[in-house]
Amino acid sequence: MENIIKDIDILPVEEAQACEYKTTVDENTGKTKKLYIESYGCQMNFSDSEIVASIMKDNGFDTTSNYEQADVIFLNTCSIREKAEQTVRKRLSQFNTIKKQNPSLTIGVLGCMAERLKDKLLEEEKLVDVVVGPDAYRDLPNLVKDAEDGDKGVNTFLSREETYADIAPVRLNSNGISAFISIMRGCDNMCSFCVVPFTRGRERSRDPHSIVKEAQDLFDQGYKEVTLLGQNVDSYKWSPEENNKARLIKQEGDVSEVITFANLLEMVALISPQLRIRFSTSHPKDITDEVLYTMKKYNNICKYIHLPVQSGNTRVLDLMNRTYTRDWYLERISKIREILGEECGISSDMISGFCTETEEEHEETLSLMDIVKFDFAYMFYYSERPGTLAAKKYEDDIPLKVKKRRLQEIIDKQAVHSYARNKQDLGQIQEVLVEGSSKRSELQLKGRNSANKVVIFDKGNHQKGDYVTVKIVDCTPATLFGEVLS
Ligand code: SAH
Ligand code: SF4
Ligand code: F3S
Repeated sequence: MENIIKDIDILPVEEAQACEYKTTVDENTGKTKKLYIESYGCQMNFSDSEIVASIMKDNGFDTTSNYEQADVIFLNTCSIREKAEQTVRKRLSQFNTIKKQNPSLTIGVLGCMAERLKDKLLEEEKLVDVVVGPDAYRDLPNLVKDAEDGDKGVNTFLSREETYADIAPVRLNSNGISAFISIMRGCDNMCSFCVVPFTRGRERSRDPHSIVKEAQDLFDQGYKEVTLLGQNVDSYKWSPEENNKARLIKQEGDVSEVITFANLLEMVALISPQLRIRFSTSHPKDITDEVLYTMKKYNNICKYIHLPVQSGNTRVLDLMNRTYTRDWYLERISKIREILGEECGISSDMISGFCTETEEEHEETLSLMDIVKFDFAYMFYYSERPGTLAAKKYEDDIPLKVKKRRLQEIIDKQAVHSYARNKQDLGQIQEVLVEGSSKRSELQLKGRNSANKVVIFDKGNHQKGDYVTVKIVDCTPATLFGEVLS
């Protein structure tokens, strides 16, 4: 779920690791105060910022894209790697100057770093007024008010129930065509390297009716694509009984059996054949054949699966507590190919230099890549996170130089595979959903095919939101180029 720009050529290591951020847009609905949010990390965080903006909107705030005009600045932060936290610290020190010029400005740290560091953040970063974790956003208006009265505040309560199901997100990061919908929160997996279970709490699934309604509303507003988000979408599970326990309203027509991710996919796919469905992230231990068959059954469910492997070696996978083996992963890939064919896009996340990883074990990650040939991958070197199982149990013993060298080998290999996979598309006829103009030229449009690859083609009479049939005529490792057929 890491967010890295995709439609540019392969990035060198350092840049590929740099955390991109997104900001709020300018809104002028006549509210008296201005809110600026900068969001780091994964799509989940971007989606949360839309919930935050919605809560603040009901409390007198329009969003702005200019932090110099803001009454309140929120940084929605990520803790996944040390570097992500360093980026936020640097940014906070830049905000020091404007806080000095404008002492009435409220600065808040939200998200995973807030949850991880709690009130320590107030001690360490003197300019911060409020610290709020991912399950406590309903409390933001109170905390901001207290801050305006001079009282700093922290709320990092983690909930077993909060899904923000009733809050209509203000679409901030959207092009008006494609939007994120959170279908669950938290994670129960405890991969040993990962901070997410600590920052986002226990896994819980959102009421499917509220998900379908949100997707329907988006479609009615002209959106053409929704991405269903969760750290592990395949473990989505909802039943009316649990729903009652969670104090949500039981609706007419509820069936009593459990709704799985495959059921949910189908429910959303049935809204309209004109609405594309994507989802992220799938976990290799949980992705079922039923999900794959549901993808096959509906044309509008995009043929793209982000299935992070992390390592190609079974011993390392075991240390990582991923609960699958190399063979299990490869079997899942075979099943995807068997049911959905070669066209299905598959991407992955990889970590180099995990604790005690030997050279031979690293080679197994490379050989797994050779077998699978991912279309795309997000690649990282291991960064020890305080409090995680790995930090407690294993020594972070691979020198940084070695981690980086192994990472570079992974990146180099991926570049070759991305290019080869794109070349396989040459000559194919594909349906592309147009997202807007290409970065290089107003005369060209940019969109994505079902497999999530960026396709560029001449504009003609087409516009944002159109489904266009193109023939792929050229490619780079990162982009396909098409000729419009209709
Ligand atoms: N829920 C998703 C992953 C979310 S975090 C999943 O299970 O696949 C996104 C990616 O960040 C992970 O897949 C992993 O590759 C990477 N990552 C997480 N913790 C890391 C760490 N401590 N060091 C380096 N990379 C890490
Ligand atoms: Fe982290 Fe593992 Fe959960 Fe993904 S599944 S968020 S890697 S603990
Ligand atoms: Fe996402 Fe970063 Fe938190 S990846 S869940 S924002 S630690």
